[in-house]
Amino acid sequence: MELQNLMFEIENEIGYVTINRPKKLNALNSRTMDELNRLFNEIKYNDEIKVVIVTGAGEKAFVAGADIRELNELDMNSSRTFAQKGQAVFNLIENLGKPVIAAVNGFALGGGCELALACHIRIASTNAIFGQPEVNLGIIPGYGGTQRLARLINTGRAVEYILTGDMIDAKEAFRLGIVNHIYPAEELMEKANEIAGKIKSKGQIAVKLALNATLSSADLNLKEGLNLEANLFSLCTGTKDFKEGTNAFLEKRSPKFTGK
Ligand code: COA
Repeated sequence: MELQNLMFEIENEIGYVTINRPKKLNALNSRTMDELNRLFNEIKYNDEIKVVIVTGAGEKAFVAGADIRELNELDMNSSRTFAQKGQAVFNLIENLGKPVIAAVNGFALGGGCELALACHIRIASTNAIFGQPEVNLGIIPGYGGTQRLARLINTGRAVEYILTGDMIDAKEAFRLGIVNHIYPAEELMEKANEIAGKIKSKGQIAVKLALNATLSSADLNLKEGLNLEANLFSLCTGTKDFKEGTNAFLEKRSPKFTGK
């Protein structure tokens, strides 16, 4: 499938995915969701890519939501599949097996907020605005917002934002823990690159397993989670990167990880 609504490039082992419908504030229509599905399936199995950065084209929006023109056509026969398809795309991103950074450069509303929530690390420009305004349209979030926002900022806060549709500016998003950092818009990609650069310089098996273990904390009880952590910790000690990392420390030099 030719990419019409996404831009994609790989540079220095980082995959850059840009939602590219700036005239519609990068709203996610079906074509864009299909392209995201296709692209992230390729990224998942492309060993050249160690970290992914997702952002929106233009200066105004990350993604201003699902495409309301398409939403308007939904009925009770089509809408369940519509939501499940979107959820599957965002599950694919969350379970990609490599870190995904959302560089939120403006409006992240509805499906845009849900896309950011499915990414592993979120950073924002000072003009970023988050929100789940679906109630204004007579619907509820359908691409994971009720579940991921509640897990991230707690149920009471999520209920308020989802039931009022209130916007969350960058400072508030930082205070709530939705974003890790706020930067001036012109520095956002540079800072995303810095984080990606740090991550890709580490042993990649450890990165992958650490991501897996940490994400699992949302689904497992403490006993199960600690069991998983011990198993994955043990797996790491079978890697060349573990020997290299510990030897390098003892020899007072920088490690040269090979991802093996
Ligand atoms: N779906 C489809 N089109 C959208 C859209 C969406 N979610 N969000 C913005 N657009 C389109 C607008 O219709 C407009 O298109 P047009 O120029 O052909 O009329 C264009 O993007 C620019 O948006 P506009 O509303 O003119 O920009 P603004 O700066 O006045 O307002 C927002 C920005 C984000 C506040 C406003 O666009 C908005 O409320 N969007 C919908 C947000 C939403 O409810 N998202 C959740 C959907 S589930």
